Amino acid sequence: MSERWTPDSWRGKPIQQVPAYEDADQLASVESQLAGFPPLVFAGEARKLKQNLAAVARGEAFLLQGGDCAESFAEHSADNIRDFFRVFLQMAVVLTFAGSCPVVKVGRIAGQFAKPRSSDIETVGDVALPSYRGDIVNDIAFTPDGRKPDPVRQLDAYRQSAATLNLLRAFATGGFANLENAHRWMLGFIKDSPQSARYADVAERITEAIAFMKAIGIEADRHPEVKNTDFYTSHEALLLGYEQALTRVDSTSGDYYATSGHMIWIGDRTRQPDHAHVEYARGVRNPIGLKCGPSLKADELLRLIDLLNPADEPGRLTLICRFGADKVFDHLPALVRAVKREGRSVVWSCDPMHGNTVKAGSGYKTRPFDQIMQEVRNFFAVHQAEGTHAGGIHLEMTGKNVTECTGGARALTDADLSDRYHTYCDPRLNAEQALEIAFLTAELIKRERQGRERPQVEAAE
Ligand code: PEP
Ligand code: CO
Repeated sequence: MSERWTPDSWRGKPIQQVPAYEDADQLASVESQLAGFPPLVFAGEARKLKQNLAAVARGEAFLLQGGDCAESFAEHSADNIRDFFRVFLQMAVVLTFAGSCPVVKVGRIAGQFAKPRSSDIETVGDVALPSYRGDIVNDIAFTPDGRKPDPVRQLDAYRQSAATLNLLRAFATGGFANLENAHRWMLGFIKDSPQSARYADVAERITEAIAFMKAIGIEADRHPEVKNTDFYTSHEALLLGYEQALTRVDSTSGDYYATSGHMIWIGDRTRQPDHAHVEYARGVRNPIGLKCGPSLKADELLRLIDLLNPADEPGRLTLICRFGADKVFDHLPALVRAVKREGRSVVWSCDPMHGNTVKAGSGYKTRPFDQIMQEVRNFFAVHQAEGTHAGGIHLEMTGKNVTECTGGARALTDADLSDRYHTYCDPRLNAEQALEIAFLTAELIKRERQGRERPQVEAAE
């Protein structure tokens, strides 16, 4: 598209999923306050993430992206952030070891507050109210007052994001992320898991590798790479007034960046090429994610790639595929072939959550663990068949012991869902289920790696 881009050029395009704010002056006043606040992230960090994602696109690294479906104002405690970060690090260690390749760590956190909804209205009995659109817009409480979109919530979301990011930065560099810690926590999981035998072997080999590193003098105190980690934030860039207010020119490059998070993505419901969300995203230089669901056709994907990554910059665009386990083979091969044919550089990532949501008999929205894992397996199978790199996974997960997805090693059932069903939106993997996904995905990464190594071995014989 040759049209000029500005941070507000999205305002001239059709748009979906917009809250009906009653007071336009109040909204404008909040947006102008936000525009005067400090950025949450720096352009240089977003560029570094893009370089890391470029390695994923080349097949040299793996992307782990995950966190809440929707962050909430109510659950904003240090414990919550710590528990999430802890399980996320454990998962990263398992994946790094299996793939013998770097894992790029990106949280759905410190800004994941706005939710797209399938209907503008929610009806309970004979009462109809606006749908909940995330804490940045309105309240989950089903009351006329709660559901009224309130612009001031954007200021609260900004401040919560800043506080969350502050703690994450401290965890990532202050010693908490020490590789030895992550490994020790993992051993606790192995000890308690009903599936421990399956995972014990990997854990044991990591123990040996750490002991070996120590023996040759690579200790955390002297080697920051053992003690620290790079951790990035991401969220769906849905509420564009908020995003615009945090869009800033980077003084070193003169380019525009979204400073609300390191990476932003476009949701499956708002990816129309001529609409506002694509317009906004095309002009900022952050790494961008694009959700790809069953309705996305190959020609439209190519058009979106042209719009979002015209210069074919590696690491710029991550395609987050979310078809549903039984639909992967119907949809993914055509997209992979089209992208390959056009020689475009992308990261292929698998979101095995959003295509596998079902309503349990108990009435709760849930996701069966086996279906989630089956989508990941199918995703890897397609990439293996097409000769492309299964580059990442994108999960909805929490560090808490919730009961929102059924299955997993503890075989949670529909009847268990009511115990600790805490999500503000979609059902998340609990800490154990998330770590199990990491162990099972690690086996797939290892197989992919061995598949790549085999031809070289044969050639050498
Ligand atoms: C989400 O990631 O929470 C989401 C709404 O996903 P999608 O746009 O893929 O439906
Ligand atoms: Co979700």
